[in-house]
Amino acid sequence: MAKVVVQFTCSECGATAGRWLGRCPGCGAFGTLVEELHGSDGRHSNGAARAPERLGDVEVSEAARLATGVAELDRVLGGGLVPASLVLVGGEPGVGKSTLLLSALGAVARSGRQALLVTGEESVAQVRLRADRLGGAEDVSILAETELESVCATLERERPAVCVIDSVQTLYAAELGSAPGSVAQVREAASRLLRVAKESGVATILVGHVTKDGAVAGPRVLEHLVDCVLQFEGDRYHAHRVLRAVKNRFGSTNELGVFEMTSAGLVGVPDPSALFGATRAGEVGAAVAVALEGTRPILLEIQALVSRTDLAMPRRVGTGVDPKRLAMIVAVLARHAGVPLGSADVFVNVAGGVRIDEPAADLGIALAIASAARAVKIRDGLACFGEIGLTGRLRPASQAERRLAECAKLGFSAAIVPEGTEPHGKMRLTAAETLTQAIQAGLDAGGSSD
Ligand SMILES: Nc1ncnc2c1ncn2[C@@H]1O[C@H](COP(=O)(O)OP(=O)(O)OP(=O)(O)O)[C@@H](O)[C@H]1O
Ligand SMILES: [Mg+2]
Repeated sequence: MAKVVVQFTCSECGATAGRWLGRCPGCGAFGTLVEELHGSDGRHSNGAARAPERLGDVEVSEAARLATGVAELDRVLGGGLVPASLVLVGGEPGVGKSTLLLSALGAVARSGRQALLVTGEESVAQVRLRADRLGGAEDVSILAETELESVCATLERERPAVCVIDSVQTLYAAELGSAPGSVAQVREAASRLLRVAKESGVATILVGHVTKDGAVAGPRVLEHLVDCVLQFEGDRYHAHRVLRAVKNRFGSTNELGVFEMTSAGLVGVPDPSALFGATRAGEVGAAVAVALEGTRPILLEIQALVSRTDLAMPRRVGTGVDPKRLAMIVAVLARHAGVPLGSADVFVNVAGGVRIDEPAADLGIALAIASAARAVKIRDGLACFGEIGLTGRLRPASQAERRLAECAKLGFSAAIVPEGTEPHGKMRLTAAETLTQAIQAGLDAGGSSD
């Protein structure tokens, strides 16, 4: 006889408990445990032993990548979609997930392969409106369906090359009893689609909503399940969107795709440095840092504002910068470089709504803050990169040559770099051993105030 087990699962972290608790024992969040029914019919499958294969004999022809036709998306995926893989695309509401994936499906369909869109959120007519706006998506097959069983059956029968599920939170398996979007439903949908994707060779892309904290809704188990997790980020007030891989079983995770939202859909920006690295000459508190995102160096304008405050705990606010990193740079500036910031608020912003994670951008942040604090502008045509250590010493950055080549391409003639960096082309390099030396070299001596 079927035995139904009641379990309480945390909607944030996926931890389970036998009874309801106000606070999740796993992640400590309050009010996140929800009731779920788990059916168990007591049947056991008898697995027969199978002969393993020799790895060298495995056929790899099927692993050839499938270009989606959206160059920036292909770059982030590591050169295109891998057949039979499962990709999760997360992003805030309205960032443009459906738009991006419809363009990709349109391009796949135009190349003569079948592309299927399963829409659970929008009606077929609404998708048609978007397709008209984007253009070139007439050949995409579309299915408005939320029942998991029939989505899987359709995939098995149609075997499209690429299938997009928009979104995984709308899928519903009747036998589970819990509401669509709940932890159990999302997990079930992902694991069933994974099986279908592997068996039928369909490259499946799941669209996932993100919670207010920016994590893909549903438990983290979803991230373990899929082959690739892409995060689509963007600022409501900027037309630029950044796509990055959080996890990728088939490629690097630090590739970055940059798009611009236009009325004709998302347009790839092949040269983001020109967009984000442009500074206006003579501005105090603006520095250009060279960060490396995957295989691509990117120039970013970093702006800083330092203003006197009477607060006992001055503010350190960073947009696009890790707050811990910012606090460390402010401390090193004060302790080792003679830039006192103890009674000043420090605001740092990376232009264009981009987020930087790379330590080699430290020097750019520090120079922007030093420039703002001393009210002295940074020398014209100067870029910089280097990681700052807690002792105030600069550490060399990887792939300096590629960074310098990007600077030269964008018209920068000089750069401040950590000592030991090899010269490149016509770039004038100032090698600095410490942060103090870098600040001395970077700030415009003519206007020095100390
Ligand atoms: N005519 C238009 N011109 C310019 N931009 C537009 C136009 N129509 C829609 N957009 C942009 O497209 C965005 C919506 O894109 P899309 O529906 O792909 O987002 P989404 O991430 O799928 O959202 P959701 O999570 O709600 O499904 C809007 O925020 C808007 O910026
Ligand atoms: Mg959408």
